[in-house]
Amino acid sequence: MDNQNKNRRHVWITGASSGIGYALAERMAKSGDKVAISARSKDKLAELVNKASNIDAFPLDVTRQEDVGETIGAIEQSGPIDLAVLNAGAWSLMDAVDMDVKKVRQGVEVNYMGVIYALRKLLPLMKARGQGHIAIVASVAGYRGLPRSVAYGPTKAALINLAETLKPELEQYGITVSVINPGFVDTDMTRDNPFPMPDLITPDKAAIEIEKGLNAGRFEIRFPWRFTTMMKLMRILPNGVFFWAMKRIMA
Ligand SMILES: NC(=O)c1ccc[n+]([C@@H]2O[C@H](COP(=O)([O-])OP(=O)(O)OC[C@H]3O[C@@H](n4cnc5c(N)ncnc54)[C@H](OP(=O)(O)O)[C@@H]3O)[C@@H](O)[C@H]2O)c1
Repeated sequence: MDNQNKNRRHVWITGASSGIGYALAERMAKSGDKVAISARSKDKLAELVNKASNIDAFPLDVTRQEDVGETIGAIEQSGPIDLAVLNAGAWSLMDAVDMDVKKVRQGVEVNYMGVIYALRKLLPLMKARGQGHIAIVASVAGYRGLPRSVAYGPTKAALINLAETLKPELEQYGITVSVINPGFVDTDMTRDNPFPMPDLITPDKAAIEIEKGLNAGRFEIRFPWRFTTMMKLMRILPNGVFFWAMKRIMA
């Protein structure tokens, strides 16, 4: 895609009422894209709409399949979605022995099923058009099982696996697939974390990295480089070494 076309994309971003999604919507609108934003908080979406004439709000709870389909239909009234950034996410810190099943279900519903509902509607449309770009926001927390991440890490591992499943199939229809794996970003989601967050970056910095990676059509977009490389190396650590390190972290 050349620069001129890049600047005319119709982009849909979920989870755009705060944090990474908010910063990305603002940035892509500044770059000239037409941006549709979704989340449940109408007031925060309205605040963003007021900042640029090329941002439109489509309030949505991504756990409601029918609403997801209808919202995509409403967004496409003003033109096909070229790029969908499926970013809405929920996080909670939880010990396995004290599992809150409701929160685990919410993690699965928002993080995983929210993406599936969007794909169910978008993929046939993109296939028929012979083009499109799906970007799934996962996390480095999906690389390996991390302590106290019962309600979160497994959903992000599932998303990384899903993106790998999708890429070869969708490529034949002209659909690009990206998976975005951020390290720590300073947002509402992480603000109360009671543990150190190495290489923490701002949502604006995250948005710059994401926009750059999407424009390059990269499959995996991960940042910041040092922390995500360290997390990635954990994938090839022998189990014994990995669990020893996790026990030290927990202690
Ligand atoms: N911050 C980090 O360090 C970090 C690291 C790795 C990955 N991530 C991922 O990055 C994404 C964005 O997170 P963030 O850090 O920017 O957190 P955030 O500021 O808490 O943003 C989460 C967004 O998801 C939306 N959301 C939550 N439940 C929703 C639902 N049922 N329907 C629609 N929207 C919903 C929220 O909006 P409403 O509440 O208004 O609905 C909000 O806009 C998430 O997928 C997260 O897992 C974050």
